[in-house]
Amino acid sequence: MQEKLKAIRENFIEELKNVQDTNALEQLRIRVLGKKGELTSILRGMGQLSPEERPRMGQIVNETRAKLESAIESAQATLKEKEKALRLQRETIDVTIPPAERSAGSLHPMNIVLNDLIEIFTGMGFETVEGPEIEYDHYNFELLNLPKNHPARDAQDTFYVDENVVLRTHTSPVQARVMTTRKPPIRIISPGRVYRADEVDATHSPVFHQIEGLVIDKNISMGDLKGTLDTFAQRLYGKGIVTRFRPSFFPFTEPSAEVDLTCSACGGKGCRVCKGTGWIEVLGAGMVNPRVLEMCGIDSREYSGFAFGMGIERLTILKYNVPDMRYLYENDLRFLKQFR
Ligand code: PHE
Repeated sequence: MQEKLKAIRENFIEELKNVQDTNALEQLRIRVLGKKGELTSILRGMGQLSPEERPRMGQIVNETRAKLESAIESAQATLKEKEKALRLQRETIDVTIPPAERSAGSLHPMNIVLNDLIEIFTGMGFETVEGPEIEYDHYNFELLNLPKNHPARDAQDTFYVDENVVLRTHTSPVQARVMTTRKPPIRIISPGRVYRADEVDATHSPVFHQIEGLVIDKNISMGDLKGTLDTFAQRLYGKGIVTRFRPSFFPFTEPSAEVDLTCSACGGKGCRVCKGTGWIEVLGAGMVNPRVLEMCGIDSREYSGFAFGMGIERLTILKYNVPDMRYLYENDLRFLKQFR
């Protein structure tokens, strides 16, 4: 029995030298000292010894067990230290390594211009209001003095959802929505997507974007409209840009104007962009038709107002000299990357 014990012990010491981690150590402990371990089974064999031998053997077995246990404990402490050191080494972060390059995206040129517009008009006290793209005929046409069967409806090739619902043809229905629900003074802009049954070409798309402006208050005049648009033109395109009003017709404004801006490509001298005229046609505007005010529940003897509407595509094309509107929709990175 003593022989056996010695063998177990030597074997154990030998194996302990080869143990590399705490897991393997635990395996070894179970194999030797565990419930079904080698040493335990020897203890069980004690019954076969003579009563004189038993205490002596018992003592030896216990001593052996104590020795093995303390060997395991100290091995465990060393291994734990070793594993901790390894982990710390593995988890080291070298803060001097340059980070992987991330390519940042950029705003779409139309969003750049839209953000500019919102900033410019916010600076003049306008609030931004949005409305639905699928709109009632009532707001898109009726309240804007475009009754059913009115010939002026022909100017906007409309997508009808049903008899009373359309894809809005302009952002003007937002002004009708605001006028019917708020009291003056009103000073809003409404940017958004609009729809017309147009074929795609260099200057047309069935889906495009507009921004509408509306001011209603006491004593609002055409001069306020002109001053507002001059300020807008200079802030967007630079000093020296002015507006030119040409008489026009919109059912919802009276008088109405087609508004041109100084051609920013040539400064008004005349060039290819402005076809030699020095002017670029950019927007429609006018004094809100008193009939529209009345239909929307605003007393036209007390209040007056102006409205204007323009295409964001057109503003963008002019700002960045884009030769064809379709570039704005094609998501060609070679085009979009130029606006970083
Ligand atoms: N809603 C008009 C259009 O889309 C533009 C406009 C707005 C004209 C406001 C005058 C006043 O053609």
